Amino acid sequence: MKAAIFFSGKYGSTEQYANWIGEATGLPVFDIKDSIADPSKYDYLILGSSIIFFKLTIRKWVKANLSKLNGRSKLLFSVSGAGPSVKLERWVASSFPSGLLSQMEHVALRGRLDHSILNWWFRKFMWVGSLLNPDPDASRDERYGFDYVDKKTIEPIIKLIREFKHSEVPV
Ligand SMILES: Cc1cc2nc3c(=O)[nH]c(=O)nc-3n(C[C@H](O)[C@H](O)[C@H](O)COP(=O)(O)O)c2cc1C
Repeated sequence: MKAAIFFSGKYGSTEQYANWIGEATGLPVFDIKDSIADPSKYDYLILGSSIIFFKLTIRKWVKANLSKLNGRSKLLFSVSGAGPSVKLERWVASSFPSGLLSQMEHVALRGRLDHSILNWWFRKFMWVGSLLNPDPDASRDERYGFDYVDKKTIEPIIKLIREFKHSEVPV
């Protein structure tokens, strides 16, 4: 099996998870911004993406590479402030062309938000969001930031990758 990890993130947590998964499985890791990140060279694609403003940041790359993604086995991990929920599944589904999400497993991981590295606009957006958010935990996270990055949470992903490897029938 030829498999690889392709990730999209801005503030480091998605990259951190991608590298941990790479270390645990020995798979190569590509930032989608890197021009050598070519999914057509692999049979099994592990896609990692942060969520910013209710959308997966990998969505444009996915659209641009749709013909290479179709017909290949895929696993998605999202990285967000919100934990696994119906709301999160809606954001993920709306980021992809219809039907694509049903072709892959999705594991939701939680990220990190450090206000000190955000620009003024994003800090303001978070502050306004915290005032409007009816969920008290999410509101606190938006206002003060959070760090839910946890290496242990990649375990279901490692398990799925191992299961996929073992499901292959030797020729
Ligand atoms: C401007 C901005 C918008 C965000 N929007 C969302 C959002 O809509 N939903 C959510 O759950 N998390 C949101 N987050 C939290 C990010 O998903 C989280 O910080 C994630 O760890 C970022 O991944 P990265 O470190 O790989 O860039 C947002 C963060 C920023 C900075």
